[in-house]
Parts: sequence; C-alpha cells; structure tokens
Amino acid sequence: MRIFIRFSFMLALLLVIACNSNKESNESNNTEPAKDTHSFANADKISVSHIHLDLNVDFDKSVLRGMATLSLQHHLPADTLWLDTRGLNIFSVTLNNDTSKKINYYLGATTPFKGSALGIPVNKTTQTVQIKYQTTEESVALQWLTPEQTAGKDFPFLFTQSEANLARSWVPCQDSPGVRFTYSADITVPPNMLALMSAENPQKKNDSGKYHFEMKEKIPAYLMALAVGNIEFLATGQRTGVYSEPAMVHKAVVEFSEMDDMVKTAEMLYGPYRWGRFDVIVLPPAFPFGGMENPRLTFLTPTLVVGDKSLTAVVAHELAHSWSGNLVTNATWNDFWLNEGFTVYFERRIIERLKSKDFADMQAVLGRQDLEETLEDLKSNPEDTRLKLNLENRDPDDGMSDVAYEKGYLFLRLIEETAGREKFDNFLTNYFNEFAFTSMTTEKFIHYLKENLLNDKNGLTNKVNIDEWVYNPGIPANCPIIVSEKFKEIDNKVAEFMKGSSAASLNLYNVSTNEWLHFMDALPLQLSMKQLTDLDSTYGFTDSGNAEILCKWLRKCIAGNYSKADETLEYFLMHTGRRKFVKPLFSELAKTPEGLEKAKKIYEKAKPNYHALLIATLEQILEKQMIKV
Ligand code: BES
Ligand code: ZN
Repeated sequence: MRIFIRFSFMLALLLVIACNSNKESNESNNTEPAKDTHSFANADKISVSHIHLDLNVDFDKSVLRGMATLSLQHHLPADTLWLDTRGLNIFSVTLNNDTSKKINYYLGATTPFKGSALGIPVNKTTQTVQIKYQTTEESVALQWLTPEQTAGKDFPFLFTQSEANLARSWVPCQDSPGVRFTYSADITVPPNMLALMSAENPQKKNDSGKYHFEMKEKIPAYLMALAVGNIEFLATGQRTGVYSEPAMVHKAVVEFSEMDDMVKTAEMLYGPYRWGRFDVIVLPPAFPFGGMENPRLTFLTPTLVVGDKSLTAVVAHELAHSWSGNLVTNATWNDFWLNEGFTVYFERRIIERLKSKDFADMQAVLGRQDLEETLEDLKSNPEDTRLKLNLENRDPDDGMSDVAYEKGYLFLRLIEETAGREKFDNFLTNYFNEFAFTSMTTEKFIHYLKENLLNDKNGLTNKVNIDEWVYNPGIPANCPIIVSEKFKEIDNKVAEFMKGSSAASLNLYNVSTNEWLHFMDALPLQLSMKQLTDLDSTYGFTDSGNAEILCKWLRKCIAGNYSKADETLEYFLMHTGRRKFVKPLFSELAKTPEGLEKAKKIYEKAKPNYHALLIATLEQILEKQMIKV
C-alpha cells in the first residue's frame, strides 16, 4: 500500500512537472541553441570563426571566381563540416592550406530555397578548409547590371543582397543568423572600378584593381555584402559619407547630409555605435529594397534621393539596425521581428529627436495603415500574423511581412507606455550591451524582459499580455492608438473632396510628404475618372518625383483606368526594382483580365532589370492570377 501511495505520489509529481513544462514550453528552452531549419550547418559541433575570400569579379561572364578559406573551431566530436551552398560551382576542396591534396567532399541534392549541403570530411586537427569555386546564374544574391542599367551608362555594376538566406549563393558558409564569424577579403575588379564591402572600405579607386577588406567584428552571413562599379565617395561628416556613381553622388550627399547627427542621436538613445564608420552606398534603381543594413556600409535605393530629405527615415532605420539586428541578431528567421520590430521602434525614436514627435507619429500612423492592409492580405494565413513565425519548410522570404515591422513596433510601444519611457530606454540600452555580438531567440528576449522590466510583482506582465502579442495572430485589444492631428485635417479634406468639392478648393499646395501619403491612404482606391483628372491636373501626381507618393497614386490610376498615367506607370515599372513599389502595382494590374495582359507585357520587358527576389515574388502574383482568371 505504502509503495503504491509513494508510486502514485511520484506519478502525480511527474504529471505536475510535465504539465508545468508544457505550459511554459514557450519559455522553457531559453538556454538551448535555437534550431535553424533554413541551414544545413552543424555549427554546434564545428563552427566557422573566420572566412577569407580571394575573389575575381568577372563582368564578361557575370561570375565571381576564386577561393574561400574557412577557419574552424571544434566544439564537439564530428567527422564532417556541413556548410550551406546554393548554385555554386565547386572546383576543389583542400585542408589546412595544403592545396596540393584535394579531398573528396559531398555535395547534396539541390533543395528549393535551401540549396545544397556541402559536407567536408574533417577531424579535430583540421584548422582550415579551402574551397575553390565560382558562382553561377543560380547565385541569386548577385545582381549583375549592364552599363545601361546604371546612372552613368559607362560601366557595369554588381551588388549582392544576402538577407535572408542568400549569402550561401556567393560564399560557401554557415548561413544561419545564429552563427557569427569575422571575415577578410581580397577582391580583384576591372580597371577604373571600385569594390566595397560590409567592412573597412577604401574611399578611392586604385590602379591595381585589387582591394583588401577586413571585418573585424563577428557578423552573421546575411550581413556579408559586396558592391562593384564606377563609384565615388563624398563625406557627409567625420564618421559618415556617401558612395555612389558620379552622376548621383552629389545629389545624394545633400539628401543625406544629416547622417553624422543621426549617429550621434542614436548613440544618445542606446549607447555607442560599435562599427567604426557609418557610410551608405546609393545603388542603381534595380536594388530591390529601400535599404539593407550591411555593417559599415548600408545599401540604399536611389528612390530616396528626392531632393527634400523627406524619405531619410530609411537611413535612420538602417542605422538603428547597427544595434537591433547587427549587434543583437535574430537567432533564426522565425525571430525576424526581433530585428525589424525593434528597428522600426528605434528608427522612430531617432526621427522624433531629429525631426519632431509629430513627424514620428505620422510615420507610425502610416505604418499602422500599411499593417491593416497586410492583415487583410493575410486573412487566409492568420498564422503569418504572429510575431514569432513558423517558417519551417518555407522560403523565409515568403513569411516576412509588415507584421514583424509594424506589429513588432506597436508591441514595443505598448511596453514603453506601460513601463515608462525612461525605464524602457534603460532596459534597451542594457539589452544591447548585454547581448552585443550574439544572437537572440524570442523566448530568450521574453525571459530577459520578465526578469528586467515586466513582472508579476509590479503587475505589468498582465497589462501587456506578452504571450498574446507574440504567439497569437492579429492585433490584441490593448494595442496603443496613435493619432496625428495633421492627419485629422487631411481626413477632413478627403471627406470634402468625396462630397464633391474640387481638388483646388482643398488648398493642399503646401502639405508635406507624410500628409500626401496619408491623403492617398484616406482616399478610396476606386476613384472616378473626373476625380482622378481633377486631382492630377491640380496637384500633378503623375509627375511626382517622390516614388512613395507616385506608387500610391499609380495604384489608384490602375484601379480607375486612368490611362493618362499609363506611360508613367510603364516607365516606373521599367526603371525601379524596389519591391515595395513594384509588387503592389503588379498586384493591382493583375486584378482584371485586361490589367493582367498589360502586366505580363510590362513584366517581360522589365524582368532583366529585376532582382531574383523580386522575380520570385512577381511570378507568384502573376501565376496565381492566371489560374483565377
Ligand atoms: N533588413 C531589411 C531588408 C530585408 C528584409 C531584406 C528581409 C531581406 C529580407 C531592411 O532593414 C529593411 O527593413 N528595409 C526596408 C526599409 C524600412 C524603412 C522599412 C525596405 O527596404 O523597405
Ligand atoms: Zn530593417
């Protein structure tokens, strides 16, 4: 009997433990390394601590050719080093710098969006592996531009885009955001061209065409970057400057003249900038993003160079990544919101100090409006509206949306409002310091948040409801409501216009870019021909030099069959590769059979100008619609 009681007691105890650990399963594994299903690497056993690249940039064949030398650190016994590759042509593998002794290696089958595992037999005495290789047409991180696709039209251009998991398509590496290494490189380019990387950079061309690079801080693979072209440098301050083609660099240096102040402002908020210089490169229009936070050298779209500094928040965003993302990095792509949500929050804090609270709040409201549209688009995929994603067996790029950015932002703003700004700022500064140069899972962050800011004792855990924000779809009821007085005035103007007032009588001749963007959001998508004509002849939207405004306007032109904008639409789609603009315009076109025809014609012509990431997105849109029609 006693034995039985003891047994049942033990059983009950075990059950309690099991139930508790189940309940806490979201948090329980905060000390275990996160499993990255998008990488073949076995970095828990053997990790790459340094990569040296020796590459030749061949514009005639559109390939990078050369050798990567990877230095290894052994943690646990293993007989194979597993690396990620995608579309690489491997010539040979050697060990410990003995290039005479080629060894057998294993190259796995190609899997969609993951590429092929490269298995290299090693033992515990193996210190380096050398891989001779060249890139191929399948090297999706690389975009090779002809001279016609550049501003100067004289030289070709090359740039890389490694995020999310494309680094493996130009460097054999452990391509997981949870693995960090330093790198160095010797890059050879044709005469009169300059090479730049996410590293310590030259400011001038040299006669040899050979450039040496060092990145002495440990970074994840998705932050490796290279750009080659006819590029010049102009300083904007002591620590900051702009690289671009000669035809663009003078305009760019004026547009981004506030960069030194931005860095100082960011440092006042969350502690020292740890990467030395903060330079930017303004790329040709084919660059698929607004910006990419490559360390020491942010990559930017030329669509930011408007002439009135109205779109410089993107620079603040990429700068903010120097803390959130580059210093404390999402451990897997499921934790993407830790990179982007934090960065949008930080970006708006920089903008608040540098411009005004009004300006930052207007941007937050515009962000919220974009988020509402994304939530509508994701109605049939509510699981993609969680902060913590599950991207297993999916292309990480497919699951990344405004949710990480704007829901992430709203969550952090709620924490700020609940705990108080001063406490939250202190918390964030400590968080960046404590976890600098490491990776972070959502669970580890929540644990740190509960230990250091929100807990049951101060009653703040309940107020925020962390689990609902992070693990549930949609927007929780306690979401902060952000209002902009200036936007209320715009709402009134829109109401007047919709009641029949003329565009001119609205007297909107002096409104800012943010207000125009809100004006576009507040107007219905479907306007009559009379309304479109009146707006256009009064405010000249079709001729707008601001791509943000133009893109929102062109959507309405497509929806309302406003053919006067056709030429501009085609020109815009042919000359910009920024996904944020190109994708919604093609989606709008694809809504009707006639529009879809037009879309396909423009797409065929524009495709050579588009990055592989954008091509993948557009083919999904165009194919899906073709099945529907
Ligand atoms: N890191 C992102 C760009 C990115 C995200 C590339 C995911 C590949 C996969 C960058 O910091 C970014 O967010 N860019 C935004 C600008 C920003 C102001 C929202 C963009 O390009 O629009
Ligand atoms: Zn970002």
